[in-house]
Amino acid sequence: MTRCRFWRLDRHPEGNTDFARFLSLQEEDCAPLADGEVRIATEWLSMDAGTRMWMSPRTDGYQPPLPLGSKMVGLVLGRVIESADAGYPVGALVRGFGQWADVATVVPALTGLEVVDETVADPRQHFGALGMNAWTAYVGVKEVASVKPGEWLVVSAAAGATGSLACQVGRNLGAKVVGIAGGADKCRYLTEEVGVDMAIDYRNEDVDARLAEVPGGVNAFFDNVGGPILDAVLGNMAHYGRVAVCGMVAGYDTDAPMPGPAKFDQVLMRRLRIEGFFIPDFLHRGAEFMPQLREWLDAGKLAVRFDETAGLENVLTAYERMLTGKNIGKVVVKL
Ligand SMILES: NC(=O)c1ccc[n+]([C@@H]2O[C@H](COP(=O)([O-])OP(=O)(O)OC[C@H]3O[C@@H](n4cnc5c(N)ncnc54)[C@H](OP(=O)(O)O)[C@@H]3O)[C@@H](O)[C@H]2O)c1
Repeated sequence: MTRCRFWRLDRHPEGNTDFARFLSLQEEDCAPLADGEVRIATEWLSMDAGTRMWMSPRTDGYQPPLPLGSKMVGLVLGRVIESADAGYPVGALVRGFGQWADVATVVPALTGLEVVDETVADPRQHFGALGMNAWTAYVGVKEVASVKPGEWLVVSAAAGATGSLACQVGRNLGAKVVGIAGGADKCRYLTEEVGVDMAIDYRNEDVDARLAEVPGGVNAFFDNVGGPILDAVLGNMAHYGRVAVCGMVAGYDTDAPMPGPAKFDQVLMRRLRIEGFFIPDFLHRGAEFMPQLREWLDAGKLAVRFDETAGLENVLTAYERMLTGKNIGKVVVKL
């Protein structure tokens, strides 16, 4: 009988610290596989800020709340060890939505499970330049924000996984890029490694005043944060600018709805377009995004820094690091 260790959601979290008050590490025998299920020995777990919403009791989020007592859900990369679906043979390296567990059991059709390319030298890139954060960056910058060469693109939470990739997608498409992040180290990373044209430290600088330096105004904003940063950008948009609403991490520490921007009137004054998007809606288009992302990765044009923690028992530490901004780049856990 296969044993499985997993993180269980016991209570809805309050805030973004001390997650051990709300989740516990459990162990059980795996149930026999049902028809169509696949069992995966997890090698890597992806820590994603958006999963914080799944822990909340809110019923108006983009996913139904995860019932208390459930295994915590997240993106996993690992090898198939048992399969009741011929499309996912034993031994295949797969990625998809599974559980924060050393052995994940999934229904491929419901979880976006994919057999990934084993020729990729660093498997972490399946959560990096070839992963969901990269797909999000690509869709958000190219399609939702419709960024054109020569335009100015602003990205918030720019030193995180999704943000650092969005900056590079914008740069690769010929835009000039402004990254907003918390702290001098992150701003140095943005200018020296990510290659932005301007970095703004929102913890120590006046974001509004710095954005006023953008010649002609901001044409496109890839927003991961919401709140005061969204307001500062709205007041500095060029006419006919576009805002791609990717995330609202400034509000993920509470169950209350994020209030609208105080400068909402600028949507009319500057004839802006604001559009939210959610990458699971685009999973069927992965084959279309991958060749471009792979080309950029191989050419050194989509670099990802990884913030790595070891051990299933340390998942909550890694998760808290990300939500409290201690990470630079993509947070992963190696099992
Ligand atoms: N729409 C979609 O389909 C989709 C898909 C993937 C991700 N996302 C969104 O992308 C965003 C980033 O997610 P990620 O998984 O890539 O995590 P991440 O950016 O690697 O880590 C989260 C970052 O958020 C920043 N942050 C936390 N609290 C903040 C606050 N109050 N104000 C400003 N910044 C804050 C921190 O950076 P600082 O130190 O710079 O504050 C932290 O490093 C999230 O909003 C997530 O929901 C959306």
